[in-house]
Amino acid sequence: MNRRFFSQLLTLGAGLFAARSTGATDTNDRAELTDPAHSAAPSNLPVTVSDFVAQAAARLPRASFEYVTTGSEDEVTLRDNVKAFRRIRVLPPLLHGVSTTDLSTTVLGQKISMPVLLAPVAALRMLHPQGVLASARAAARANTICAASSSALNGVEEIAQASDGPKWLQLYVPRRRDVAQRLVARAEAAGFSAIVVTVDLGERKDADLRNRFTVPKDMLLKHLRDIGYTHLTDQSSHIELIEFNAAAWDISLNMDFFKWLRGMTTLPILLKGVLSADAARQAVDLGLNGIVVSNHGGRRLDGMPASIDVLSDVAQAVDGEIEILMDGGIRRGGDVMKALALGAKAVMIGRPQAWALAAGGEAGVIRVLDILRDELTNAMIASGCSSVESVNSSLLRT
Ligand code: FNR
Repeated sequence: MNRRFFSQLLTLGAGLFAARSTGATDTNDRAELTDPAHSAAPSNLPVTVSDFVAQAAARLPRASFEYVTTGSEDEVTLRDNVKAFRRIRVLPPLLHGVSTTDLSTTVLGQKISMPVLLAPVAALRMLHPQGVLASARAAARANTICAASSSALNGVEEIAQASDGPKWLQLYVPRRRDVAQRLVARAEAAGFSAIVVTVDLGERKDADLRNRFTVPKDMLLKHLRDIGYTHLTDQSSHIELIEFNAAAWDISLNMDFFKWLRGMTTLPILLKGVLSADAARQAVDLGLNGIVVSNHGGRRLDGMPASIDVLSDVAQAVDGEIEILMDGGIRRGGDVMKALALGAKAVMIGRPQAWALAAGGEAGVIRVLDILRDELTNAMIASGCSSVESVNSSLLRT
């Protein structure tokens, strides 16, 4: 493992030097990672998720960086998401005789190379010109799933055109049900293979208020038109579009919505934002296909528990009836192993994806997935796990 890891680093480092001296590059995104005007020197090649944070901070306008990085109010939940993983200790068996591991798994029947997916992240096009298109391509290259946010600022057809890899659409629900229905039908026709409905709504972050963070007019207009509000035109002012946007989404969803959605699509449906055993049981009873244990990365109601702290209660309530994903605070491959041990089928990454995209576009996202893959491989071999199925809670001392 170590040898593989270091040879990979050397290869990447050599690639960077070659690209600099010859000007040759694989892709525009890789060019950005290697262009000294844009990116870190080879000695600054990211080797951990946190290495991307400084690179993202150096590239993004402050308001965009803080939009990604901060959490709501006092950031209690945001901090706890990360710290809760640090509190969990791993106690692997001795003499386990394992020297290789297979990270591949399936999620909703889709085979993927490792149990790490890209979480839906809004406004990705403000972080990098290729936005979610780069994320979708990176996920395809890494052979995993991109769960694209309906607010990523690219339309579903564009995303499908950018990548034929596995894709889910995360839905914020348009208040006009005819628009919602058409959007889901368009996603299905474009080849998206599941709908993720996010139910923890209402973002109010101090940093965004101070920075007066807003989506630029042209991006907001395109976004609303992409969603299906095609009557909007350039004639509307930025303020009018902001007001329209504020009223365009249904933030009073209840479980009846899922009966409606179930009746109009055959795609699998996941409920994102579950933190309790009761909510998880409701999802099972509604006939949904999966849940995402999530507090939206500490961006919604501050004071909610860390996702990893409630995962095993949720898993117990679900009792294997539907698949469980989790997100919030994944910063190391070892965190992924802890989530699997506590009942997740796979995890999703939000900020790590966004920082990496800002730092290096598609190549950055590929790199962050590689880092997590290598760290997870290392953690699993050290824990005597030869496959993701063999990870269980006996490894942990909580
Ligand atoms: C998000 N998240 C999110 N979730 C969602 O369902 N739809 C969305 O549009 C967004 N937008 C969004 C923007 C930004 C900038 C971030 C950082 C996050 C939440 C995301 O899917 C995920 O739940 C968290 O990001 C997971 O926590 P970590 O990985 O950021 O710690």
